[in-house]
Amino acid sequence: MKKFTGIHKAVFPVAGLGTRFLPATKAQPKEMLPIVDKPLIQYAVEEAYAAGARHMIFVTGRNKRAIEDHFDTAYELENELEAGGKTQLLELVRSLAPADMVCSYVRQPRTLGLGHAVLCAQPLVGDEPFAVLLADDLMCGPAGDQGVLAQMVRVFESAQASLIAVQEVPLEHTRRYGIVAGSPAGERLIRIDRMVEKPSPESAPSRMGVAGRYVLTPSVFDHIRRQERGAGGEIQLTDAIAKLIESEGVYAYQYAGKRYDCGSKEGFLEATVELALRHPEVGERFAAYLKSVSGDAGRG
Ligand code: UTP
Repeated sequence: MKKFTGIHKAVFPVAGLGTRFLPATKAQPKEMLPIVDKPLIQYAVEEAYAAGARHMIFVTGRNKRAIEDHFDTAYELENELEAGGKTQLLELVRSLAPADMVCSYVRQPRTLGLGHAVLCAQPLVGDEPFAVLLADDLMCGPAGDQGVLAQMVRVFESAQASLIAVQEVPLEHTRRYGIVAGSPAGERLIRIDRMVEKPSPESAPSRMGVAGRYVLTPSVFDHIRRQERGAGGEIQLTDAIAKLIESEGVYAYQYAGKRYDCGSKEGFLEATVELALRHPEVGERFAAYLKSVSGDAGRG
């Protein structure tokens, strides 16, 4: 078998309806919601770029415009900033689309599920391994260390098999996740023998919950194509990965870092507070502000 080295293509399924964030997501994708000063999709694209991906493939829906525009050249804005001598802002805007990064967009005509969204990217991915990043899971690697996808690409190169990011979740939350079970296969690595979508705490085979980062071999496309609609009438990525476990083997990787579920209001608020506290420009003042309001809350 051909040896896989690195990952060049990253797929961002962004066609979901984002119903948990209505009304904010009525006219814009939830991936454009900002955490402090960057939209969620930008965090994910930066993570993919840092992991070596240079071709970013967005699977979009009807609300795609804002994402396309975000990674496109903004001539008017750049001219204004240049004329006003705002060099730092100009560099910031230009850095969104490095010269060696290519963005492609493909449309998912109906929201038939994550598996279906990934299949829509097949003509652009072709016959090579690729990453999938769900931008509403904001992943922060350990301070000063690699991002989560970069960790996974390194492991993928030695495991030569598909890889799913997992984390230990509280037992009472198993219904929110795909849950995997298997046997230890190295540091932070589990060889998966079972994967269940959103089990009850009583039936969950473990507490290892899937987070929104995958490195997949292209044979996953055949499994998605052959698939019937699963839970919720959707074509689930989990069902295709379950087939991949039988045919090729799949590993779960316990990443180092922290995940914020920004598709939920609580996760979004947690990310906002924690990233604001770490932000070089506003962090200190924001910490003082939080102290002052928590004092008020205590008195109230
Ligand atoms: P979610 O399960 O979070 O669904 O999808 P959602 O519609 O975005 O959000 P809620 O639950 O209604 O609030 C997980 C990821 O898969 C993408 C979403 O954009 C999100 O990144 N997705 C889901 C698609 O691209 N197409 C689909 O048909 C379904």
